[in-house]
Amino acid sequence: MGLEAVDAAFVQDVEHRPKPTITEAGGIPLIDLSPLLAGPVGGGDDSCCAALRGLVDEVEAACRDWGFFQVINHGVPVELLERVQSAAKEFFALPPEEKRRVRRDEENPLGYYDTEHTKNVRDWKEVFDFVVAEPTFIPASGEPGEERLREIKNQWPEYPSQFREACKEYADGVESLAFKLLELIALTLRLPARRLNGFFKDSTSFIRLNHYPPCPSPHLALGVGRHKDAGALTVLSQDEVGGLDVKRKSDGEWVRVKPIPNSYIINVGDIIQVWSNDRYESAEHRVSVNSEKERFSIPFFFNPAHYTVVRPLEELTSEEDPAKYHEYNWGEFFTTRKNSNYKKQGVENIQI
Ligand code: SIN
Ligand code: FE2
Repeated sequence: MGLEAVDAAFVQDVEHRPKPTITEAGGIPLIDLSPLLAGPVGGGDDSCCAALRGLVDEVEAACRDWGFFQVINHGVPVELLERVQSAAKEFFALPPEEKRRVRRDEENPLGYYDTEHTKNVRDWKEVFDFVVAEPTFIPASGEPGEERLREIKNQWPEYPSQFREACKEYADGVESLAFKLLELIALTLRLPARRLNGFFKDSTSFIRLNHYPPCPSPHLALGVGRHKDAGALTVLSQDEVGGLDVKRKSDGEWVRVKPIPNSYIINVGDIIQVWSNDRYESAEHRVSVNSEKERFSIPFFFNPAHYTVVRPLEELTSEEDPAKYHEYNWGEFFTTRKNSNYKKQGVENIQI
């Protein structure tokens, strides 16, 4: 199994190849969300409030020290996840020509595609993207000051027959978890629980079904190259195979996220980094692949409305702690990135 086993387009530079010794020890925090099952964030009686305070402290430490955590007892019915998982499995098992009937193209950024690049190296995966809210609007072009809007529409495959319904039901379930997490995060920043909710009224959130086929050269390629998520928050489900690696803030080591059945992995994206004026940082992560098993994962990208102007929140800036970022328009950023061959601009590009 040599260099020739995968096409050169997939080969990572030596310093970015995954080491075979990567460990799950000392990994991201595990947080039990059961205090939330009792009622809405910010309401309830005293015993519930003590539990909620403890939860807020745990989420605060996880966001500060990692930018990543894993949650259990999250309230999303497991049947919704199981249904979308089997729909994804069936869809990706279809012949390539069938999948390509709903292929993403110049006209439509949603649907199936298999040639995503991260930092100019091809990822070992195929994906299907759909937006959560219909209609979803984004700017028609990435030109600053461009006011025309474009409605982006989902493309649904004919098979499997339950695909669309499973995707939609799952989206509703996972979106309500994302709102609860957003409210918890607002509390950790000493803001009113619902302070951030308004940004998501006309959300540009989308869901990606990922399929990572077995890879003949897992020491050379990655399922997804190292990157940070550009949106506000990501709520990810991974299957039992594992392969998500997170860069630990304390020492810069890559650590593998242990698969836990019916859990979700949460990470703060660049937008929360900016809103929080660097109290929280969006962490680098990547996906390692393996030669034996295929892997499936489903991230929900919780993104604000296209017209959102992202800037450090005024409550979190002061004369002593001035804004660390220039403001930017989320829709313009999103469209530019999508139009520029999917290359990421990190938040470092907008830092003062
Ligand atoms: C991603 O970060 O884009 C994918 C994560 C995963 O598949 O676990
Ligand atoms: Fe990611």
